[in-house]
Parts: sequence; C-alpha cells; structure tokens
Amino acid sequence: MAADATGATSADISTYLRQHEDKPLLRFITCGSVDDGKSTLIGRLLYESKRLFDDQLSALEADSRRHGTQGERIDYALLMDGLAAEREQGITIDVAYRYFDTDKRKFIVADCPGHEQYTRNMATGASTADLAVVLVDARKGLLAQTRRHSYIVSLLGIRHVVLAVNKMDLVGYDRAVFDGIVEGYRALATQLGIADVQAIPLSALEGDNLLQRSDKTRWYEGPALLEHLETVVLDGGDAGGGLRLPVQWVNRPNQDFRGFAGTIAAGEVAPGDAVVVLPSARRSSVAQVLGPDGPVQRAFAGQAVTLTLADEVDVSRGDVIAAAGDPPAVADQFAAHVLWMSDSPLLPGRPYWLKIGARTVSASISEIKHRVDVNTQEHLAAKRLELNEVGYCNLSLEEPVAFAPYAENHALGGFILIDRQNNDTVAAGTLDFALRRADNVHWQHLDVDRAARARIKGQVPKVLWFTGLSGAGKSTVANLVDKRLHALGYHTFVLDGDNVRHGLNRDLGFTDEDRVENIRRVAEVARLMADAGLIVLVSFISPFRAERRMARERFADGEFVEVFVDVPLEVAEARDVKGLYRKARAGLIPNFTGIDSPYEAPEHAEVHLHAATSTPEAMVAQVLQAMHALDPDWSGGTSWL
Ligand code: ADX
Repeated sequence: MAADATGATSADISTYLRQHEDKPLLRFITCGSVDDGKSTLIGRLLYESKRLFDDQLSALEADSRRHGTQGERIDYALLMDGLAAEREQGITIDVAYRYFDTDKRKFIVADCPGHEQYTRNMATGASTADLAVVLVDARKGLLAQTRRHSYIVSLLGIRHVVLAVNKMDLVGYDRAVFDGIVEGYRALATQLGIADVQAIPLSALEGDNLLQRSDKTRWYEGPALLEHLETVVLDGGDAGGGLRLPVQWVNRPNQDFRGFAGTIAAGEVAPGDAVVVLPSARRSSVAQVLGPDGPVQRAFAGQAVTLTLADEVDVSRGDVIAAAGDPPAVADQFAAHVLWMSDSPLLPGRPYWLKIGARTVSASISEIKHRVDVNTQEHLAAKRLELNEVGYCNLSLEEPVAFAPYAENHALGGFILIDRQNNDTVAAGTLDFALRRADNVHWQHLDVDRAARARIKGQVPKVLWFTGLSGAGKSTVANLVDKRLHALGYHTFVLDGDNVRHGLNRDLGFTDEDRVENIRRVAEVARLMADAGLIVLVSFISPFRAERRMARERFADGEFVEVFVDVPLEVAEARDVKGLYRKARAGLIPNFTGIDSPYEAPEHAEVHLHAATSTPEAMVAQVLQAMHALDPDWSGGTSWL
C-alpha cells in the first residue's frame, strides 16, 4: 500500500503524483445488492488502501458508533455515497465512482445498483469497465440478479469477471458451498461467453481474502481480491489491428495548419504512414504526429494525438482516419443490441440521433427482431422496448459510418441513441455486424428526373401536410384545397389516413409503434409522389412531433408545408362526425387520440388553422394565401390565388 499523502511536502506530492500517473489504471464495477455486502466490500478496500484523510477517518469512526450497525467495529459501508438514501429505500440509486490506488495500480470503481429497475445505471457503469466484481451471498448462492448482472457484463463486453462469494464467515468457510456456487457460475459464464472468471471466497466484513489470503480458507489457492485486481492481465483487446482514429475535432488555428485531433481507438501511427479517411475513402499519408508536448515519432491506442496529413484532403469531425492497408468496414445498416434507457419507449421507425465514435447521424430501428429477457436471456417477441429492456434490432443509419463490431473494438462498435427533441440519451447499444443487403442495392439513375416531371406539369412539387385531431376537419380542408388546385389545372393527389389504412397500411393499428410506421410509410409515399412531380396533400392525424419532423426531413427546404388544423378536443368530440369519440369514451376504442393517446400539437407549423371558429372556405383561402406568401413562384409562375 502507498502511504497516506497527507502531511507530505509539496516536492513529495509532485513525485507521488508522477509515480501515480505512470501506474496502470483498472476500471471495474461491482454488481450485487446491498444485502450482498457490496458497500462494505468497497468501503473496506478504500479504507485499507489508506486513501482516507484523518477527518474522514474520525467521521467514519463516529458514524460507525452512532449508527451502530457493527457494534463497536467500523461500519465500512458508511464510506459509500448514497448510503443515507440506501438505508431509507434499501437500494443504491445512482452510479457512484470511487478512486483509490495501491503501489501497483490505480483504480476507478463504479458502484452500480443491483435492482432490475437500475439496469440502465449498471450499463452506464459497465460501459467503461475492464473488469466486473459480481457479488454473491454464500448463503443464497446464484440468484436471478446474478444472471442479470452477468448478462449485462457480457453484453457490454467486459472481459474479466471476479465472482466474489461473500459472507463465507456465515457458512463456516465451507469449501463445498463455495465449490457449488463456482460450478454453477462457470456454466453460466460459458453460456454468456465470459472467458475469464476468477472466483474468490470472501468475507468483506471480516476482511478474509480481501487484501491477503485468509487462513480460514486454507483450501483456497487463488489470490486475495486486491491482489487479483492489482495483477490481472488486461489483454487490451481493443488496441490491436490497424490504426483507427475517430476525429474529435479539426484544429485549424490559421491557413497553414490543419490538424485532426482525437484519441486513437486502435493500432498505432507514425509519420509517413499511409492512411485513408472514412467514410469518404480519400487517401493520404501522415505528415506529423503531435502529442501534448509536440511532435512524436509514434503514438499508440489510448493516446490523444493531433495528426497532420501530407495532402489537402477533406476531413471533418466524426470521420475516422485509418491505416490504408487495413481499414475498418463502412456501412449504414446493422444488427445491434440496444439497451433502452428512457421512460418513453423505443418505437421502430422513429428517428433518433446516433452517436458512434465522434460521429452523430440520424438513425432509426427498422425492426426489433426480439427482446432479450435480462433475467433469463429468453428471446421474446416485441414491438417496442420499454425502460431497461434489451432488444436485438436492425438499425438503419441515414449515412454510412466506419465501424467495428463491438466485440472487436468498443470505441468503434459502441453507440448511444439520443432523443431529437430533448437531447436526452435514450439508449446504449453495441453493433454486432453490418447487414449487407443494402450494399447490393444501388441507387438507380432515372433519366427523366423529378425536375423534368414537374416541368411538364408546369408546377413545383409540394407536400401540404395536414395534422390535427380526428374530426378536426383535416380531410374537409384538404379536399377543398385539392378541388381548387385541380380546377386550376394542377396535378395533385390526396393521401388520407382513412383511405390509406384500407390498403397500403391495412396491417397497422393505433398503438404508438403502428402510428410511427403509418407515418413513415406515408412520408415515403408522399416523397415518391413529389418525385413524380405532384402536389401532394397528406391528411393524417400524425400525432407525434418526431414523425412529422421525419416527414419534413424527407423534403427540401420550402417543399414541405405543415398545416395545423387546430380544434379544441371538446369541439371535435361534440361534433363526433363518425361517432368514434363516443365509442372511445365508452372504452370500445383503445388508444384514441385525445382520449387515451396523446396529440402533440405543432410548434412551428407554416399554417395554423383555427377550425372551431373559421369556415372551411376561409381556411382554404388561408392555406392558399400562406402558400403564396411562402413561395410566390411555387405554382411555376401562374397565379392560382
Ligand atoms: S395516425 O394517428 O396514425 O396519423 P390516421 O390519420 O392514419 O391516424 O387515422 C386516423 C383515423 O382513423 C381517424 O380519423 C379515425 O377515423 C380512425 N380511428 C380509428 N381508431 C382510432 C384511434 N384509436 N385513434 C384515432 N383515430 C382512430
């Protein structure tokens, strides 16, 4: 153990800091529940590593006496944050990170809560860990939570596990108990593909096999926990292979210098190396490798560097600079595991931001192939993923990215999904492999293009997207606008929810996920119709902002015109043209918009109609006037007002 740093001179401290800087770092997580003695275990590691200051120590002793959970002895669990809350609620809430060190290594430990509702917290802690300590109470043996914790550990690619069989004192240090648990766990580890398991019989409370081997377990020949943490060989699984440098930022202080900065995710780099920039596939060679103190002759995985290249190639933030002879694959469709972390569910088809390496692109889950029960690893059918659920999904990106399967490289195969409205992180995921089907389908060039098709019709394609509650009057207004344009000689078409749902979308109902798919398909059809040169009037409730935004993004600026047919629910309900509100109130139609399914009103619609107070004719005039004001030339020069 290193000595306590308090009381050292400043020269001592800087020497000390330098020593520690060079020491390798091990990040690990502890998984288990409070009852397994997790807080005691970490508390005692911290205590024994003598990284506590005198005042913390006396506070700990005073607290131990006051709370009295351990009689006259020190209650090491009191060292852990969140403990007050834990005592009240019986669970640790968040991920608490702790730092300690010994002569050989420094450690960052993430203390993850064990309950199923904190699966996302555990995944957060696990995502950066090299090793996991899975705690088991010797009296209880393997539990559903052990399986769950180990599954998350394997999902996030932690390559080393310590099976800490705690509370051996309470089973009389019985070898048979330990062996039984270990045997069961080895079977589980094999199933989950966890290669390195070190099982250790422990008593965190008594200190057995924590720092030194205990003479109470003479039958055990392996290392004590701390000894193992200090010496476990990290295989640096990510580091191998050719260079991969995700570009975090482009450093361009003046015209003469252009450097590409980032942390090397794999391989190494030296001046003169041939490189390729992905996804553009432009080639160059490395001119200079700059470290924090200037040019270096070589840099390795894990180091932060700035590269300059020999040629003026276009490199942007998010690109990957890779070894030209061994570049990573580039793709836009993947099979991936997704752990959902948000209170509102994952809906296939909804666009999210996907962040991988330094790159952010728009992406959606095109299909949930199955959900994985985190407790049993059973595969279950699913149309959505709820908070803390894991799904095996097909993922579709708007643009190709350079990647590696997560099992090979965490930096290039791990991603998060971000909600586009509020920027919350809603999922963590791992890429398994690229789906090749899109590779073999190329865009086909069409000789008669969109502009030619529109020109012959003497018009500019547009999409008028009517949104609003059922019974607001969307179809009425859309029909009148259509009639008017048609009479003026324009080529138009109306896509109406009630009609499309009888044909193309007859397989869809009114759950959130079905509505997302409904709108996705209609947006694609509207785009095809606009490509055909048509003016398309789309009349769907389209209750979610995310999907209206997705539809908008399918079109060029000014081409998509959102028309909000605004009516108070009471008015639509009082009119009840189709008698549906009455049925919905009677509980005969579930998920009815405005009743038990939400309608998210537009915030920036180009046209806002007040359907309760305006006549249909006035609303038609308002639509046409707004169109004219937005773009006087949209009709190809003819006035249609
Ligand atoms: S959307 O929400 O997916 O955009 P869409 O516009 O296609 O809905 O279909 C709405 C029409 O379906 C309504 O005008 C109404 O006639 C009918 N309908 C049947 N069930 C429901 C429901 N649960 N919620 C809303 N509309 C429903």
